[in-house]
Amino acid sequence: MEQSANKNILIFDSGVGGLSVYQEIKALLPQLSYTYIFDNQAYPYGELEQATLIQRVDAMVSSFVDSHHIDLVVIACNTASTIVLPTLRAKLSIPVVGVVPAIKPASSLASKAVGLIATPATVTREYTQDLIRDFSNNKSVEMIGSTRLVDMAEEKLRGQAISLQELAAILDPLQSKVDVAVLGCTHFPLIKEEIQRVLGEEVLLVDSGNAIARRVKELLGINAEGSKRGAHQIYCSAPPWQESALNTTLIQLGFSPVQCRPLQGV
Ligand code: DGL
Repeated sequence: MEQSANKNILIFDSGVGGLSVYQEIKALLPQLSYTYIFDNQAYPYGELEQATLIQRVDAMVSSFVDSHHIDLVVIACNTASTIVLPTLRAKLSIPVVGVVPAIKPASSLASKAVGLIATPATVTREYTQDLIRDFSNNKSVEMIGSTRLVDMAEEKLRGQAISLQELAAILDPLQSKVDVAVLGCTHFPLIKEEIQRVLGEEVLLVDSGNAIARRVKELLGINAEGSKRGAHQIYCSAPPWQESALNTTLIQLGFSPVQCRPLQGV
């Protein structure tokens, strides 16, 4: 048996955004088992009160770690990672990897200015302000915090088309101002193609997915490539809207149909 064949990775987000991170990790480590959980009952996290967010992520992740033999947790949500990691790391005895906006690599690649596209919460978080202060390399950072963009990614994964006109109106503050834009929400790599079309090929789009995948590989100490596993499991905290359209995409991504596990006592 391969050294890593029985490792199980738990990936968490408020919705389908973490699937962009799952795809990066699975491309690097196809031999692992993946359990994906999303808190759609409290979606969108970008508009959720901080204490509620911390309590919900803690409760949902802890209960899955206790019941599913998890080896490593990925909080595949910038909005959650910017506030919840200390709580989880103090509680869990397994590695917890977070996802935060890729300000540092973006700033070193930019010659003009950097755009940060994230949720309304992420752009105002102290964590993000500190990242900008410490790593923006004296480049100016233009920020957009939008829940509508998050909804658009949710819609795309249910087979709906994205209006480029609507997207252009949301991204307008960045037009002709930045040469690098950070996709600071894990939902946004799912609509990267559309964002690229609107901002133009001359704008470089940067996200944290590949760096997270490499970090997971390093933490697990896996060297050998392995063969693909069977279907992975995916759970949500409330019945998802357009469940059958969503399942069509989830099955293509290697999952069994989504199962609902309401969060108890929160
Ligand atoms: N995917 C999430 C992130 O990376 C959160 C989206 C939301 O629920 O607002 O920030």
